[in-house]
Amino acid sequence: LDKLPCVDTDVMVIGAGIAGLFTTIGASETDKVLMITKPKSLLESNTRYAQGGIAAVISDEDSPEYHRQDTLVAGAGLCDLDAVEVLVHAGPDGVKDLVGMGTQFDLENGEYALTKEGAHSQRRILHSNGDATGAEIVRALSEKTRQNKNVTIWDDHFVIDLITADGECYGAIVQKPDGTRVFVRAKATILCSGGAGQLYRYTTNPEIATGDGIAMAYRAGAVVRDVEFVQFHPTALCYPGAPRFLISEAVRGEGAVLRNIKGERFMERYDPQLELAPRDIVARAILDEMAETKSTFVYIDITHEAPEMVKHRFPNIYEFCLNYGLDLTSDWIPVAPAAHYMMGGVKTDLNGETSIKRLYACGEVSSTGVHGANRLASNSLSEAIVFGRRIVQHIRKLAPITKMPLIAEHSHQSEHPIQAIVEKRLKLQKVMLRYVGLKRNASGLEKGLDELRRQVKIYSTCLTKREEYEFANLLTLAMLTTESALLREESRGGHYREDFPDKNDNVWRKHTQLQREAGIT
Ligand code: SIN
Repeated sequence: LDKLPCVDTDVMVIGAGIAGLFTTIGASETDKVLMITKPKSLLESNTRYAQGGIAAVISDEDSPEYHRQDTLVAGAGLCDLDAVEVLVHAGPDGVKDLVGMGTQFDLENGEYALTKEGAHSQRRILHSNGDATGAEIVRALSEKTRQNKNVTIWDDHFVIDLITADGECYGAIVQKPDGTRVFVRAKATILCSGGAGQLYRYTTNPEIATGDGIAMAYRAGAVVRDVEFVQFHPTALCYPGAPRFLISEAVRGEGAVLRNIKGERFMERYDPQLELAPRDIVARAILDEMAETKSTFVYIDITHEAPEMVKHRFPNIYEFCLNYGLDLTSDWIPVAPAAHYMMGGVKTDLNGETSIKRLYACGEVSSTGVHGANRLASNSLSEAIVFGRRIVQHIRKLAPITKMPLIAEHSHQSEHPIQAIVEKRLKLQKVMLRYVGLKRNASGLEKGLDELRRQVKIYSTCLTKREEYEFANLLTLAMLTTESALLREESRGGHYREDFPDKNDNVWRKHTQLQREAGIT
C-alpha cells in the first residue's frame, strides 16, 4: 500500500453554491482556501436555479417578529428557536454582505423590490433580474472567488470521504479528474454540497444534487437530522419533453391561481391561504386534484394579470415556457409537484459546526434547525449567508492541524458498467417517488426499504467512478430518509403519513437524529 499524497490548506470548502462561494470569500480574508466542486463550472449548483429570491426583513412594515412567526408556522413545531432568531435578525446584514460582494437586487422607485411567496405574511423577498436571483448571486460571488488570490479552485473534483480521528475532522480524500486521489488536510472543512433532489424521479434540482455531503458526514459518524422532511415544490413545469423547470412561487405571489384540468380553482377547498398556503399543503392539494381528475398535472394561471407585468417580473420563466410553445401571459401552464429541498441534513450548532469538531456544514446540506418540518420559501439563501458568516468567524480561531493520519491508497478496479449504475439510480428514484414521496404509509415505506436494501451490496464492491459514488451516497440517504419516515408515525410539514394523518405533539415534537453507531434516536 502506498501513502496518499497530501495537500495542505487552511480551509477546505466542498461545494460552490451560495454557501460554498460565500464561506470561501469570507474565509479567504484570513486563510488560504481550497474550494472543491464537482461540476466543471463554478456556475453550476442548485443555487443557480433559485428563482423567487432571498427572504430578509427589509421593509418598514416588516419586522423580525413577523419573519420569525412565519418561519415557525411553516416549520410546523420543529424549528429551533435560537436558530430562527439568528436568521431573522441577521438576514438584513447578510443581504448587505451579498450586495458588498457585487450582487444586484431588483429595485423599484429606488428601494429594493420585494415580493411575496407562500406562507409569508409580508413582502420580504428580494429578487434579481425578475426571476433569476440564484443566477445573479452565483455570477457575482463566483467572479469574486475567481479573482481571489487566497482561493484555489479545484473544479471537476469529487470528494470521496472525510477523514476523522478522535472526533475531529482532518480533511478529506479527493478524486481528481484523472482518477488519482489525494488527501487534503485542513484546519476546517466546510460542507456546502447542497441537497439531494436526485433521490426522486421528478425534481427541480440539477443532476449533481446527490446528497454527497450528508452521506459522507453520516459515514464519518456525524449526527444527521430530520431527513424524512422533504419539500416538494408544488409547481414544476410538467410538459412532454421539458424538464421539471421551476415555476416560482413568486408567480403565485403576484396573483397566479391554480386550476385542475376541468378549469376549477380548487385551493379554497384545502386552505384559507389558498394558493399561498405552505408548500406541503399546496403540493398535496395538487396531488389530490390530479388523482380526482385522473391527470398528471394541474394548471397555473396568471393570464388575468397584465402581460407586461408578467414578462417584466418573470422574464426567464416566460422565455423558458415559450420555448415549449407555452405563453405565460395567455396560456395556463401545466404543473405538478417535484422534489425541491431537504429540510434535514447534517446537524450543526449555531456556529455551523457539526457533531464532529472542525467539520462545518452550511446551506442545504446542513440542519441548523431553521426550517423545522417545512422550509418557508426563500429562507434557504438567507440561511446560507447568515450561518456562513458565523462559520467564517468561528474557524478564524482554530489552530492548524499538526497530526497526520496515515491514509493508504488502494489499487482500484471498478466493477460496475456506467449503464448499470444509471439504471440503478433510475430505479432508486422511482422507488422513492412511489413509496417515500408526498404521501407515505407503513406498508409502502416497508416495501420501499426492502427494494433499497437489495442494492446494498454496492457497499462491499470496489468503487472508482463518480457515478458509483453518487449512487452509493444516494442509496445511503434514501435508506435514512425511508427509515426515518417509517419511524415518524405522524404527519407534520413535509412528512405526511396516510396511516397517521394528524400531528402528534405529545410524542413527535422532536427531531429525528441518525448516527452511524447510535442508530436512529
Ligand atoms: C421559488 O421561487 O418558488 C423557489 C423559492 C424557494 O424554494 O425558496
